[in-house]
Order: sequence, then C-alpha cells, then structure tokens
Amino acid sequence: INNHYLIIILSYLLGSIPFGLLIGKVFAIGDIRQSGSGNIGATNMLRVGGKKLGAFTLILDVSKGLLACYVADKLVGHHAMILAAQFAVIGHIFPIWLKFKGGKGVATSFAVFCYCDYKIGLICIAIWLLTFLITRISSLAAILSFGLAPIVGYFLGNDKWLFIMMLVSSMLVLIRHYENIIRLINKDEKSL
Ligand code: G3P
Repeated sequence: INNHYLIIILSYLLGSIPFGLLIGKVFAIGDIRQSGSGNIGATNMLRVGGKKLGAFTLILDVSKGLLACYVADKLVGHHAMILAAQFAVIGHIFPIWLKFKGGKGVATSFAVFCYCDYKIGLICIAIWLLTFLITRISSLAAILSFGLAPIVGYFLGNDKWLFIMMLVSSMLVLIRHYENIIRLINKDEKSL
C-alpha cells in the first residue's frame, strides 16, 4: 500500500477520535451531545463541564492534529504532512464512529494550520482570540477566523497545497457552524 494512502487512513482515524465525547463519559458529564450546543468540542465542554475539562478537550483535539502532521512529515515528507492535516480535520468533523457527525473542527484545524505554517496558523488564532475577547462568542470568533483563513493562506503561504488544505478545512468548519450562524442571525447565540 502506497505511503500516502497509509497517511490518509492514519490521519483520518487519529482525527476521528472524539475526545470531547470520551472526556465527558470518563468524567461523568454524560454524553456531551445531549448538553449545551450538543457539540463535542472544547467550547461546549467548557460550557457543560467547566474550565479544566474544556482545556483538556482543547489540548487533546489540538494534539491529534499536531501528531497526524508530525508523523506524516517525519515519515514521508511535506506533501504527506498537508494530506495528514486535511484528513485529521475531516476525521474530526466526520468520524466514522459517530455516524460521521463529529465536531466543528476549530481546534484541530488551528493545530494543523500551525504545524504546516506556524505564522499563518498564529494569525488565524489571533483573529479568533481578538474576536472572542471583544464578543465572548466562540462561534463568531471561529466564523470570522475561518472566513479569513483562506485569504491569509493565499497571501502569506507559498504552497498551493497548503492553500487548498486551508480552503477545504475552512469551508468544512464554516458549514459545520450552520446552526451557530442561524442563531447569530436570530441574535440567539449566547456568549461565554
Ligand atoms: O469550537 C466550536 C465553536 O466555534 C462553537 O461551539 O458549542 O458554541 O456550538 P458551540
């Protein structure tokens, strides 16, 4: 089997580990999909389980993205790293274990953007942070950050495949924020 196929499968499987759901079960929060926004990400874990579990979820969702990129980068090379980045995000958003209904991809995407190009990643995170500090709305911060991410990637990146990975990931993140967008329009989205 070709190395790139192996990287795709490995990264998808790594990305698809639903840490939020597992942490909720281990720490007696129950099925996080039944609480708050129903999302398995760090924001909802913060909302439902508190700061520590939120941070724990964030760290693990970031780590799986970094690990997928690291393994591909060291074992195969640059293009494999970008492939790993893409499939870790796809795994997080569409995990086979949860009938393909996973998280919104924010933490994992930030992680893989940073691994592939830390300047680009940090700018996207800075946009998120700035928006969040002003509005205290996690989804709005994500929508703004991932709305701008492809533009940041286009102008600051020097790799076509990195740009495509950022574009696809950002589109998936934005699509998964559909319900948040509706709530924002209806002024129903709560701040943290
Ligand atoms: O990280 C996901 C965030 O952007 C929104 O999460 O739980 O408020 O829908 P949530």
